[in-house]
Amino acid sequence: MAMSNGDKTLQSICYKRGSLQLLDQRKLPLETLYLDILDTKDGWEAIKEMVVRGAPAIAIAAALSLAVEASNLASFDGTSDDASVFLSKKLDYLVSSRPTAVNLSDAVIKLKEVIKKAAATAKEANSVFQAYIEAAEVMLEDDVTSNKAIGSYGASFIKNYLKDSQKITVLTHCNTGSLATAGYGTALGVIRALHADGALEKAYCTETRPFNQGSRLTAFEMVHENIPATLIADSAAAALMNAGRVKAVIVGADRVAANGDTANKIGTYSLAVSAMHHAIPFYVAAPLTSVDLSLSSGEEIVIEERSPKELLHTRGGLGEQIAASGILVWNPAFDVTPANVISGIITEKGVITKNGKDTFDIAGFVHKTSGNS
Ligand code: MRU
Repeated sequence: MAMSNGDKTLQSICYKRGSLQLLDQRKLPLETLYLDILDTKDGWEAIKEMVVRGAPAIAIAAALSLAVEASNLASFDGTSDDASVFLSKKLDYLVSSRPTAVNLSDAVIKLKEVIKKAAATAKEANSVFQAYIEAAEVMLEDDVTSNKAIGSYGASFIKNYLKDSQKITVLTHCNTGSLATAGYGTALGVIRALHADGALEKAYCTETRPFNQGSRLTAFEMVHENIPATLIADSAAAALMNAGRVKAVIVGADRVAANGDTANKIGTYSLAVSAMHHAIPFYVAAPLTSVDLSLSSGEEIVIEERSPKELLHTRGGLGEQIAASGILVWNPAFDVTPANVISGIITEKGVITKNGKDTFDIAGFVHKTSGNS
């Protein structure tokens, strides 16, 4: 079974049963190189080293790396329970690759349930592997469907909110497009839907220092999709807002706590504070797999710190040294934007608003919409 994201957008994950290739995003936009992922070890390294990044893409790449390993096992000498233990251990290993995006641990929890159920009824190990592989493949398909729904809900909501404007100018951060997901994108999916509706004047994208997901990936996606876009330095965002050139800010999420506090790429918080100062609505677009209801607020979110090299060298650590050896570096990969500066959270089930409060009732929204397709 060959699976793709179903359209002509860029594809970070190329999967067919038994084979997985990941687009090496470190090489973009100058080189298009796919790496073969043969097993969970390759998957873990690809995630850690940013071959694949973006919360939904990390989860799906991890799940599929194990699907490929399971598909290609020459033999497995054990019971269905042994197969379940084998797969669970591999999932625990994969979850240790990057800590902040909840999509990966959410996928692991769901896949472990599938394995457990299969092991309880299956007579042979092979049925457990089969159940796992099928569930991982469904995750790939579901992510695209859910992103398209996010795009559609987000575009309608924003158009409705900004009734007076004929066309909208938005600002986005990091990369939340086809490259960060199984396809279409979250915040970039909303921008894509606005563009398809003829409602987008232009999108501004930040460079997104230090790893430059904005200049390397988002700018590339915008050019590839013919979406009118302008690249700005992260530090130009407040001036752009002050000049009245942005009508809304839309970003993605790595983990959304139950009250709506949102961890996303470092710099998101500054954008939200600037947007509030300039009375510009600030939206988070994320699938419900990015929500972590076990955390009451963002204070509990573990923020990944990455190598000092990302700041000491150009190209987010991949180029030549530019800062003095010996300087200390603080390099958090994410920050937490408090719910009180977020105007709405756009999901595949609709837009969550605060209804005059300071925080979001995400559990209530999930409960109300569960069962809606
Ligand atoms: O470090 P990265 O590139 O994995 O960070 C990605 C982001 O912060 C994205 O905004 C987020 O994962 C949402 S992707 C749809």
